[in-house]
Amino acid sequence: MGAVLQIESMKYDENSWKQFHTKSLQEKIPLFSREGQIFDLIYASQLTPEFCSRLFELADRIRKIAKSKEGMDELGRVLSDKRGILFFQQPSTRTFLSFQNACHILGMKTSEIRDPSTSSEVKGESWEDTIRTFSSYVDLIILRHREEAYAERAAFHLNATKRPIPVINGGSGKDEHPTQALLDLYTIQRAFKYRNGIVGKRVGFVGDLKRGRTVRSLTQLLSLYPQVKFVFIAPEAFQMRKDILELLDARKVEYEIADDLNVQIPKVDVLYMTRIQDEYDAQGESKLVETEKFHFRREHLPVFPQTSILMHPLPRRYEIDPIIDLDPRAVYWKQERNGMWIRAALILQLFQRENFVSA
Ligand code: NCD
Repeated sequence: MGAVLQIESMKYDENSWKQFHTKSLQEKIPLFSREGQIFDLIYASQLTPEFCSRLFELADRIRKIAKSKEGMDELGRVLSDKRGILFFQQPSTRTFLSFQNACHILGMKTSEIRDPSTSSEVKGESWEDTIRTFSSYVDLIILRHREEAYAERAAFHLNATKRPIPVINGGSGKDEHPTQALLDLYTIQRAFKYRNGIVGKRVGFVGDLKRGRTVRSLTQLLSLYPQVKFVFIAPEAFQMRKDILELLDARKVEYEIADDLNVQIPKVDVLYMTRIQDEYDAQGESKLVETEKFHFRREHLPVFPQTSILMHPLPRRYEIDPIIDLDPRAVYWKQERNGMWIRAALILQLFQRENFVSA
């Protein structure tokens, strides 16, 4: 009888998942932690400034060691006993490659499934069985999916099996992209290293803030830093959603809703551009919104403060004229590369091998 009960309580079912999903983040986060440490990284709200500063130091250490062949050889042994899978069900260049290369820097072997038609889901396998199958072969799953709750659901499911392995959310629909928030924050911290770091910065987000998961995750994370202020610059149809604004209200964080980029450019320390996420359109509604006035153009450079930085999670379309790449305030190519170092640091931290990397 006891054994039956135990099996029952281990079992994942749709109802227990639904119940879990409607809980508050505070209630959900403990399931994704072990002994106070992050086990699965699903939401930006699992991140704290203390965790981030440890990660930044680790990323700095890794990139320094990686400069020499001896250093790369040393790094390549740190996770040589581990394997990971990248399961990417939405297009990706940077997140995929930076995660894959982060794994390779640490000596981890990787497998990948990017094209759903090559996975057994097309033979009618349930998504639960597909995820569980990964855990039979590898030690880490990195996931990207169009469905908002997929990563959470996968981690919830695996945590109810006998072989739970860590899940990292590499982008969940229109909702969250916590590792992008990490690399963005790392980029801001490096840019303002000698100017009080992240504290007190005025951050402007531009573009599709409604469906852009990067800005949603980054806003949550930045709001944990003292005196950070936000300005959300977007056409009304793409303004930041209520849930994030309510979170800022609850944390008593200052923010402004704006729709004139020209007015805001001289006033921000960080300007974070994004593209229109029209892959989520139901019937081409993005085309009806006037977005040109939310592009950063060459004429803006003289009014953009000399000490400010221009960011973009990439890929870009027309939001930033490529000629602007030559300006030292344009940091998006550095931002992109920072993704590889911070993801290497994150993976190391999840496996608790940070001490294997010499200071
Ligand atoms: C972003 C994403 O996938 O959300 N890209 C990325 O991961 N660097 C932004 C985007 O696609 O616009």
